[in-house]
Amino acid sequence: MILPIYQYGHKVLRQPSEDIDASYPNLQELIANMWDTMYRAEGCGLAAPQVGLNIRLFVVDAGELSDNYPECAGFKKVFINPEIIEESEETMPFREGCLSLPGISETVVRPKTIRIKYLDENMQPHDEEISGVCAICTQHEYDHIEGHVFIDHIGPLRRRILKNKLTNISKGKAGAHYRVTLP
Ligand code: NI
Repeated sequence: MILPIYQYGHKVLRQPSEDIDASYPNLQELIANMWDTMYRAEGCGLAAPQVGLNIRLFVVDAGELSDNYPECAGFKKVFINPEIIEESEETMPFREGCLSLPGISETVVRPKTIRIKYLDENMQPHDEEISGVCAICTQHEYDHIEGHVFIDHIGPLRRRILKNKLTNISKGKAGAHYRVTLP
């Protein structure tokens, strides 16, 4: 089922999210719906707050970026209760976008490598090092469950330049080609 995507300005994108356990109601159905919603909107990641739920869950499929970034081939994962436990000092810039901020793309600088602990969709624990664009995508989604969005990382001048666009997004005038929920 395709879910509407909550847009910039909605408070659900700013609230902290909580851990879940295997008893979370209809978890597998929710994960399936998040994949459907992400693919329909042509995104490469989607976090639970973007579908209105303040829980620590996000999905990433960076596979379609693998033409330009070979490390992304086959990178498709569900992250439950993730925790970034290490970040490299080495950083990399990447031009990011977000389904909650249609029409905006900005260069963000993030750690190039992270170590992350999480549960997969079967509640199995993982402790992995992730690098390159896969790490960028993962950190972008991780931001969402911490109540952040990618433009929090850009400078005040760039933010001021985007002001009108952000207002349009929160009014539903950004031309998203998918269903949205407005603030
Ligand atoms: Ni996003």
